[in-house]
Amino acid sequence: MVRKILTFPHPILKTPTKEVDVIDKEIEGLVRDMFETMYHAEGVGLAANQIGESLRIMVIDTTPKKESPPVKLVLINPEVLSKEGSIKYTEGCLSFPGLTVEVERFRKLVVKAKDLTGEEKVYELEGFPAIVFQHEMDHLMGITFIDRVNGIKRRLALDKYAKLQKQKA
Ligand code: NI
Repeated sequence: MVRKILTFPHPILKTPTKEVDVIDKEIEGLVRDMFETMYHAEGVGLAANQIGESLRIMVIDTTPKKESPPVKLVLINPEVLSKEGSIKYTEGCLSFPGLTVEVERFRKLVVKAKDLTGEEKVYELEGFPAIVFQHEMDHLMGITFIDRVNGIKRRLALDKYAKLQKQKA
C-alpha cells in the first residue's frame, strides 16, 4: 500500500526511531509499504519514520540511478561499522518536496543490519549507495539533510523550502 510521506517540519521526523525487536508479519507489511511508497514517489531510499512509523528500518533501491551499480536493501536496526573518505553530493529528500541541498558525506562505509529473515548481514557501500544510506540513517536518528549544512547555506535552504511550501498552499 502506498502510504502518505510526512514532510518537514512534522515532529516524527525529528524524533529518533526505536530499535525493532521482532521481525514479524507486521514488519514485513511495513517494509512492503515502504518500497511501494518509495517507488510511487520515485525515491531511492526511505526511512520508516517518513511514513509515520518510528522504527529503525530503511529501504534503499538505487536502480533508477544509472551511474551506480544497483543496490537494493532492507536494513533493520542498521549500524555503521566503519567509514572513510568524503564526497559531496546534491541531495533531495521526499520529506522536503522540491528542495535540494549539497551535503558532504563519507564516501565509503561498512554497515551491518538485519534483513527480513532476521539474519545480521554486513555490507560495503561506496559512492551513491553510501550517500543514500547516510541520508536515511540520519532520518532514523531524527536528523534531516538541512541539519548537515550550517550558517547561510542552512538559512537559504529553509527560506527556499518555506517559499516552496507557500506556492503549494
Ligand atoms: Ni530524506
